[in-house]
Amino acid sequence: MADLVTLRPVAEEDLSWLAGLTNGPAASGVHEWHGWSDPQRRRRRWAETGLLGEDGGTVMVMLGADRVGQVSWRKVITGPAAFGWALGIGLAAEFRGRGYGSEAQRQIVHYLFAHTQVNRIEATTEITNVAEQRALEKAGFTREGVLRGTAFRQGRWHDQIIYSVLRDEVTLEDAGPA
Ligand SMILES: CC(C)(COP(=O)(O)OP(=O)(O)OC[C@H]1O[C@@H](n2cnc3c(N)ncnc32)[C@H](O)[C@@H]1OP(=O)(O)O)[C@@H](O)C(=O)NCCC(=O)NCCS
Repeated sequence: MADLVTLRPVAEEDLSWLAGLTNGPAASGVHEWHGWSDPQRRRRRWAETGLLGEDGGTVMVMLGADRVGQVSWRKVITGPAAFGWALGIGLAAEFRGRGYGSEAQRQIVHYLFAHTQVNRIEATTEITNVAEQRALEKAGFTREGVLRGTAFRQGRWHDQIIYSVLRDEVTLEDAGPA
């Protein structure tokens, strides 16, 4: 079933559904509930870039015509002449635990290595977010270590695990003649 998940750009009709993904701990997932935020912010960014800007982006995760969630990436400066991407993901509660998170992250890694020149894609997740750690491993990421005290949530600081995947660890499908 997981291979039926597809990615596509965010359409205007998706924006209110995406807002609903982050409006409370049940919708966000307990590890991703960081309080309410400006509901117009994403809409403004969508109007400017379609959420496909130079410094990052967001795309929908779909199962046929059903909205499953979103995956996003943002620029991380790694040196004077280098940057990589950091991934984020959130699935609607009813679609979690079915392999879609692993597959969506595998697909966005392939997309980003195919269409941008970065060498490294990283992802961090809280030390107790076992589902995301396992999903990242299944998507080809390598666990690098613990980032102590980096996530603030529910009134205290939490440790995170950082993962990465490098360009030469991924075999891109040949899209046909150049
Ligand atoms: C984290 C998330 C993206 C993972 O995607 P998912 O589709 O639910 O995960 P998958 O079904 O691909 O499962 C990946 C692995 O984690 C395991 N897993 C899933 N849910 C789990 C849970 N609650 N506890 C422990 N393991 C779990 C699965 O069994 C699977 O491992 P396996 O194949 O070895 O059995 C998704 O659950 C989600 O959106 N959660 C809320 C938001 C969030 O936490 N985002 C990540 C922020 S860093």
